[in-house]
Amino acid sequence: MTDNAQARAAHLIHLRRSGYSLGDPVALPLTMAATYHSPGDATGYNQYGRFSNPTWDAVEKVLAHLEDAPCVAFPSGMAAIASIFFGLLKTGDRVLLPSDGYHTTRGLADRFLGKLGIGVDVRPTASFLDGGFAGYRLVFVESPSNPVLDICDIAAVAHAVHAASGILAVDNTTMTPYGQRPLDLGADIVVAADTKAPNGHSDALFGHVASRNADTITAVMDWRETSGSIPSPFDAWLVHRGLETLEVRFDRMCSSAELIAGRLKDHPAVHGLRFPGLEGDPSHNLARIQMQRFGFLISFSLASAEQADDFIAGCELIQPATSFGGVHTSAERRACRGDAVGPGFVRLAIGCEPAEELWTAIKASLDRLGG
Ligand SMILES: Cc1ncc(COP(=O)(O)O)c(C=O)c1O
Repeated sequence: MTDNAQARAAHLIHLRRSGYSLGDPVALPLTMAATYHSPGDATGYNQYGRFSNPTWDAVEKVLAHLEDAPCVAFPSGMAAIASIFFGLLKTGDRVLLPSDGYHTTRGLADRFLGKLGIGVDVRPTASFLDGGFAGYRLVFVESPSNPVLDICDIAAVAHAVHAASGILAVDNTTMTPYGQRPLDLGADIVVAADTKAPNGHSDALFGHVASRNADTITAVMDWRETSGSIPSPFDAWLVHRGLETLEVRFDRMCSSAELIAGRLKDHPAVHGLRFPGLEGDPSHNLARIQMQRFGFLISFSLASAEQADDFIAGCELIQPATSFGGVHTSAERRACRGDAVGPGFVRLAIGCEPAEELWTAIKASLDRLGG
């Protein structure tokens, strides 16, 4: 981690300190409230649970500290993505998305933006700069893309999008603000599913939008308040708790992923291994420049769907489950989710187990498959 990231992580733990009154709880109190005491003209105070909540404020303060930008919390990553689509776009606009990113983002655009007269195009992450960005109001990238882990040059895309008078949003879910800082690279908006590593315990969905542009923040807050796409205070409380340990969990997960990817490379059952941290990976040279860490996702293929299922089910330290970023290492055969990958393609999400124990269990399950 850079010195900046270390300082950010250290101060994150103490963010509440300046606001304490004598006798206040050190841990964040959970405020469950649909309505607030508001006699007369209560302008400037909490009035109604769709407009504001002290537990959201606390989690947004931590996220803003991490992103170095104002943040708006949402009940899921998709709700955050929907807020920029519906809060910022209008009929006649065009949007450009990755063809190989999280499939539901494309689904949302295809099924709902088209009906509003908003054009949607897609292109692969690895060649995202090809073709330019003329005519696009919003360009949306996901880097590394989920699940294949291709990356694009965020600074170069931001430069080209701005030259074409568009805005750039980056889905930073796979990296978190500790692993990659799209706003510092020139992006206008970050969206993320805090359901993943930021919460980290696989027990709540959450998302956020971050931007240093005040009009963008106003537009997504207006969308949240009016559409009612609001997070539950309890989920905000869980995510706040998760964020306090994100740095240690993320560090462990990324370090373990580096070790395990390096060993998977030499296993005879593994083909098409992708991990941005591996020398020789198509993403590696750019990853070294634009990412602080290489992340905790690894993808590879086994000989068949059956082998992939057997590998996942047969490993005692892999949780067969969708999603990623939790304390449990998990894996999924992504063809089951409709991604354009082969039947034996596995996305492995490294968790917080001690690395050597985890590798021993992964290797044993691979060895049982045969060559
Ligand atoms: C890259 C990416 N973005 C967004 C999302 C959506 O997040 P959520 O499931 O919290 O809506 C996901 C979910 O897997 C994801 O992988």
